[in-house]
Amino acid sequence: MTSAEIRQQFLDFFKSKGHTVVPSAPIVVKNDPTLLFTNAGMNQFKDYFLGNKPAPYNRAADTQKCLRVSGKHNDLEEVGVDTYHHTMFEMLGNWSFGDYFKKDAIAWSWELLTEVYKLDKSRLYVTVFEGDEKEGIPASKIALAEWKKIIPENQIVFGNKKDNFWEMGDTGPCGPCTEIHVDCRSEEEVAKIPGRDLVNKDHPQVIEIWNNVFIQYNRKKDGSLEPLPATHVDTGMGFERLVRVIQQKQSNYDTDIFTGTIAATEKITNKK
Ligand code: ALA
Repeated sequence: MTSAEIRQQFLDFFKSKGHTVVPSAPIVVKNDPTLLFTNAGMNQFKDYFLGNKPAPYNRAADTQKCLRVSGKHNDLEEVGVDTYHHTMFEMLGNWSFGDYFKKDAIAWSWELLTEVYKLDKSRLYVTVFEGDEKEGIPASKIALAEWKKIIPENQIVFGNKKDNFWEMGDTGPCGPCTEIHVDCRSEEEVAKIPGRDLVNKDHPQVIEIWNNVFIQYNRKKDGSLEPLPATHVDTGMGFERLVRVIQQKQSNYDTDIFTGTIAATEKITNKK
């Protein structure tokens, strides 16, 4: 599958589940003093999550151009050092505004990855929020129960607030999340160390591809968490990472998203 086909399949899949496919928002954020550049697909929907504005649709999907070079989500130190972070990247996302919640979001993410993209189920790991006493947020029992219906328990990993509680910035919509990781190592490597031991450990071949956030709170300026009037789904899948996994490459830069540009640059500069 080409990267263009992979992108289209994502949008078609969520369209078939009743989502309105919307355009990517501008990368320079307008009307939000808390954010300079769009850092996630959900930015353009912030007011719907907070209940400031009614959403024109209950479900949306898109592919959002994101820039993570400053603020809370800053990948700049990783770019050019590893094979899977970028300055600008595309985030594939699906959203529920007070509509479906954990059960459907989890089931659909699994369906898309394993039935449409046909990823090897034994190479996928999921993380579930273990709760945080200080913040007064319980462990994600529902997400855990839903994953247990789908995936063997030894492919479920618990994570703390750093990895499994997503926040847009210092303030704004946030909530517990469940991530999907994929182990792209050789059979030989897998036999030595189980993939679950390498989840969220910066291994270049065991990488997160999708984050499903369950937006339930608003982080206030004073640091407190205010429960929102409704609950929402906010997901983000790294397009370049997904393509790399499907095209079975060791690096995002070896996918057809980048190889044409790299080849043209080599030709112009006469350098490998
Ligand atoms: N907004 C979530 C993220 O960026 C999906 O990871």
